[in-house]
Amino acid sequence: MYKTYFRTKILMSLLMAFVLVLSACGGGNDEEPASAESEAPAVEEPAQAQDAPVAGDPAAGEKVYQTTCIACHGPDARGIQALGKSLHPSDSEFISERTDEQLVEYIKVGRRIDDPLNTTGIDMPPKGGNPAMTEEEMYNVVAYIRTLE
Ligand code: HEC
Repeated sequence: MYKTYFRTKILMSLLMAFVLVLSACGGGNDEEPASAESEAPAVEEPAQAQDAPVAGDPAAGEKVYQTTCIACHGPDARGIQALGKSLHPSDSEFISERTDEQLVEYIKVGRRIDDPLNTTGIDMPPKGGNPAMTEEEMYNVVAYIRTLE
């Protein structure tokens, strides 16, 4: 009788100690990695958002191309004799060497015949001759030009 009581008491205190150790370790372990994990993505997200340039949408840019630029630069953007030149980056160092921002600035003002940098003696009108063209549309059309092999 005494023996059973004693054994139960030992078992109980062992159990208590076990539970205490478990909760102490478990609690301690849970907190640190959890907070480390939740901080990691919070640091990455703003970094990604900052890195992202003002990227145009090539699909939307293709529509801009087909309504405004195609008349002079041609259905395959290889240019049309006496109207406009190829816009494939592989044909034009002017395009491949410039940033999106620089190309948007270029499209905004075009390259008039009297511009000493004009290479063909043909007029590249500002915004391809469409004054209603928005900056977003220009970024889109630049994104489209980048997809030409
Ligand atoms: C009315 C005809 C015409 C239209 C419309 C036109 N372009 Fe041009 N574009 C030209 C000509 C001509 C040149 C070559 C200018 C020169 O002699 O340097 C040119 C040159 C360019 C260049 C520079 C290429 C290089 O290698 O120097 C880019 C980029 C360009 N055009 C983009 C566009 C885009 C984008 C559109 C539509 C939004 C557009 N163009 C619409 C006639 C046109």
